[in-house]
Amino acid sequence: MSFLEQKDFIEENDTVILYLSPSSMHAINVREMMKNKKGELIEYIFQTSFGALKVKSLIGVRYGNKVELSRGHAYALQPTPELWTNTLPHRTQIIYTPDISMILFQLDVKPGNIVIESGTGSGSLSHHFLRGVKPNGHLFTFDFHEARVEQAKVEFTNHGVSNFVTVTHRDVIKDGFTEELNGKADAIFLDLPAPDKAVSHAFKALKSSGGRFCSFSPCIEQTQKVCEELQKHGFTEIQSMEILQSEEIVKMRSVQIMDLDFVRTKKILTTCDIELNDNKKHSKEVQKIITSSAPQILPGHTGYLTFGTLSPIFAR
Ligand SMILES: C[S@@+](CC[C@H](N)C(=O)[O-])C[C@H]1O[C@@H](n2cnc3c(N)ncnc32)[C@H](O)[C@@H]1O
Repeated sequence: MSFLEQKDFIEENDTVILYLSPSSMHAINVREMMKNKKGELIEYIFQTSFGALKVKSLIGVRYGNKVELSRGHAYALQPTPELWTNTLPHRTQIIYTPDISMILFQLDVKPGNIVIESGTGSGSLSHHFLRGVKPNGHLFTFDFHEARVEQAKVEFTNHGVSNFVTVTHRDVIKDGFTEELNGKADAIFLDLPAPDKAVSHAFKALKSSGGRFCSFSPCIEQTQKVCEELQKHGFTEIQSMEILQSEEIVKMRSVQIMDLDFVRTKKILTTCDIELNDNKKHSKEVQKIITSSAPQILPGHTGYLTFGTLSPIFAR
């Protein structure tokens, strides 16, 4: 139940994030025993790069505390949607936090909202929507892959958020969203192979007072088709974007500090002027200073996000 509200102490059946380092964390379902390959019940021992952990030893530990492993230590953290996105079992490609942040912001997701999502996939984005719409909103998520639907239901129940989500097994391109959702959604999100084919269903499901639409697609041709469909259905503020997370390289460098008095008195205006003058005279000294620069390699492509607004005058 550890996703629902802040807790002090770890209890049996909680999902705990075992944090070893920023690039090494694991989601663990806290229980004393587990089944081995032969189906026999054995004590649940979790192996990490810093050694083994007896999972039952987590019960009663305060969230955030250090726990000893056989060759080091880790921290037992309460899960957040961000930590879950980093540790969840992948059943599909998932959406990551940089894209998710923009999706939540642009869809203006807030408590009380009705949000529709398809496909559910591995439930990465769903957990972020759920945190946004709680405690009086609801997420309706659809996937045509039955096993993924069942697994998502199990996870939402284990995480204590099942009252805020309805998971439906359905082909939304063929059959649209369920009838009772017509005119009910504040926001709709699509992560489907042919999202343009679901725009007419999204149009039907959005509130007559208007709403926001988003589609994630790795492919620019699909993105273009979605834009065309959105235009046909009267959506406005149509915008596609790519979120590229880029790290700055921060390091100490030896840099020649320019003597600005010299530059001013000699009326040096351009770098070319500087080169014509005695190089040493306009540099006071070499200093080690902290610098930051962009990385040489661009971050990898995930997908394009396409947004649109359905205004009340164009809604059904
Ligand atoms: C890339 S995954 C979604 C990942 C999800 N956004 C996440 O963050 O975990 C795409 C999902 O769409 C589902 N899907 C594809 N076509 C569909 C359709 N026509 N109707 C419903 N679901 C569909 C697939 O089964 C798959 O689970």
